[in-house]
Amino acid sequence: MLEQTVTIAAHERDAEAYFRLVLHAPAIAPLIQPGQFAHVRILPMKDALLRRPFSIFQVGRDTFSILYKNVGKGTDALSRMRVGEELSVIAPLGHGFTVPKPGGETPLLVAGGYGMAAMFLLAQRSPQKGIVFVGGRRRVDILCEQDFAAIGWEVRVATEDGSHGEKGFVTVPLIAEIRNSKFEIRNYKLFACGPTPMLKAVGKIAEDFNLPAELSMDEHMCCGVGTCLACVIKVKTGEGWEYQRTCTEGPVYDSRQILWEEAK
Ligand SMILES: Cc1cc2nc3c(=O)[nH]c(=O)nc-3n(C[C@H](O)[C@H](O)[C@H](O)COP(=O)(O)OP(=O)(O)OC[C@H]3O[C@@H](n4cnc5c(N)ncnc54)[C@H](O)[C@@H]3O)c2cc1C
Ligand code: FES
Repeated sequence: MLEQTVTIAAHERDAEAYFRLVLHAPAIAPLIQPGQFAHVRILPMKDALLRRPFSIFQVGRDTFSILYKNVGKGTDALSRMRVGEELSVIAPLGHGFTVPKPGGETPLLVAGGYGMAAMFLLAQRSPQKGIVFVGGRRRVDILCEQDFAAIGWEVRVATEDGSHGEKGFVTVPLIAEIRNSKFEIRNYKLFACGPTPMLKAVGKIAEDFNLPAELSMDEHMCCGVGTCLACVIKVKTGEGWEYQRTCTEGPVYDSRQILWEEAK
């Protein structure tokens, strides 16, 4: 993990409120594992002290990128920044996804909205290609279809308003795939990133079909490095449970560890 001031190498609007930001960070890029995040201080903001966490989307030799949605004052200030301007980042942070081993499980990735950002590196580094299930409210919330197709992954889309792909939640095509699997179902492993209700639903599917699953928890963060305890969730341990910091012990957990009744 490094704290560095890095330069914006590219910055483009992806669709409506979504942006792709490429950062020149040659010391950080080689350290990144799938599912890790960057904690970004948006220097032009008035109260720039508080950093914002973003999953690391893609990694180049000297760069890494994030894919973000403009939802508030931090991401709005970020969306107005130009190539050549600087940001302060701490990265890579957190405990990411377990990359499948060669000849191991077939990955089924499940993402909602900007959750797609956490998935691309996992897909790229997995020796087995699988299927990525992507969901969102509307067509515009369906990100990265072309990126996944370009690396040979099958993409299944679901939108809540039916404007693209299947109508409904992303879990509908996921369950259909598991039920009608052309692969050996016991060989599937689920990986998910998105809103908490979606993660909870994927955890339930994993339990129902007795499949392993890794979930990237989306909790509000402050320090990002394990000191403030703003990001804790209850995690099962042996006979009981304990609080764990999603910024350091997470954000990725085995779905069986999550104490859902208590999740915020
Ligand atoms: C591990 C992790 C990875 C993330 N990866 C991405 C990513 O790849 N792309 C992306 O666009 N966003 C990602 N986020 C969410 C992102 O951090 C927030 O959207 C961002 O901090 C909002 O900052 P803001 O100042 O624009 O919004 P604020 O003005 O602070 O808040 C605006 C709205 O966003 C909500 N919000 C703030 N933080 C979160 C959060 N963690 N989850 C859900 N809602 C939130 C607030 O409740 C409020 O409604 C990630 C969050 C975590 C914890
Ligand atoms: S955000 Fe401070 S401990 Fe996790």
